[in-house]
Amino acid sequence: MSNRVYIFDTTLRDGEQSPGCSMTVAEKLTMAAKLADLGVDIMEAGFPIASEGDYEAVDAVSRQYPWMQVAALARSNKLDVERAASSLRNAKRPRIHTFIATSDIHLEFKLKKTRQQVLEDAVNAVTLARQYVDDVEFSAEDASRTDLDFLEEISKAVVAAGARTVNLPDTTGFSVPFEYAKMVSRIHKALGDTAIVSVHCHDDLGLAVANSLAAVEAGARQIECTINGIGERAGNCALEEVVMAMKVRNDQLPYQTQIVTENIYAASQLLTSIISFGPQPNKAIVGANAFAHEAGIHQDGYLKNKSTYEIVDPKSVGVPEGKLVLGKHSGRHALSKRCEDLGFTLTKEEVQQVYTKFTALADTKKGVMNDEILQMIAEVKESSSAVKAD
Ligand code: KIV
Ligand code: ZN
Repeated sequence: MSNRVYIFDTTLRDGEQSPGCSMTVAEKLTMAAKLADLGVDIMEAGFPIASEGDYEAVDAVSRQYPWMQVAALARSNKLDVERAASSLRNAKRPRIHTFIATSDIHLEFKLKKTRQQVLEDAVNAVTLARQYVDDVEFSAEDASRTDLDFLEEISKAVVAAGARTVNLPDTTGFSVPFEYAKMVSRIHKALGDTAIVSVHCHDDLGLAVANSLAAVEAGARQIECTINGIGERAGNCALEEVVMAMKVRNDQLPYQTQIVTENIYAASQLLTSIISFGPQPNKAIVGANAFAHEAGIHQDGYLKNKSTYEIVDPKSVGVPEGKLVLGKHSGRHALSKRCEDLGFTLTKEEVQQVYTKFTALADTKKGVMNDEILQMIAEVKESSSAVKAD
């Protein structure tokens, strides 16, 4: 079995459908450029039946990036599938992604359908989609809370009807890694090489990345994810985290993607400028503090050798440089390095004097700015030249 993992980006669909994240067609096109630079394998550009804008976005993205695989989402019914097919009419590499819920909870309270009806809807939708495109993905919504025998039955049926990818979403972010892996392993074994098993994890318990990685270990070869982890409620599996986990820990996770990781930061920044919020400061890989070292012991180690406290090279994800934040936890080593960076080589005594001023100020605020350090250096330099003149 190949170790190549396909990255299915749904920033423009699942990501976009969450509060504060809606994008115009023009914004989706701008974002799609970055996703193409990033090397995602498939971009899901919208849910065409949901709005005119989504319909236009799928059409515009597939025309502008003809070399990319572009997916359109559709519920498992005739109208949705036909709308998705129409939005993809100009696409060179179209994928119809059709879904229906399979868990008893959804069947009873949402769909009010029997398992047999859901199975028929799924097979009919896939059969119809195959009349328009070769590449059809089926998602069993709420797969992680679905009876396993039924999940296996519907997975085999949609593959027999022509689906090439079977996605097993943890729609509510309810699953835990070993349990999710067990489900994926069962469906992967049942399907063999007739279809790619895909995963789509939400982050309600903060486990979306861990669940996705566990699923890959169990045989999944497509991960659905978003930039900055945006998406319904707590979001989706974050592309930057899951990709970097496989890259940095390739010794434990020997899988390959074709993501150009150096373009991650730019994609994250662009998304932040389009939607109404950015990643939290301590967010892995793309947060403002992801490569900042403040504690004195950490800064000292980092300055002696970065590998003491930095496991991801900031350059490998396109972050210009590791940032040292100078605050009340910073030590002399970091301060004297900052003075050097600002163009001043200080004697040991001068560093000590600047340090005394620095700690007094740092105690009163969150971080000390370069211009404040420059002021302290000037004061110290002035008093040492006064001493010499005496
Ligand atoms: O979370 C989910 O189940 C989905 C499907 C439509 C794939 O977003
Ligand atoms: Zn989702």
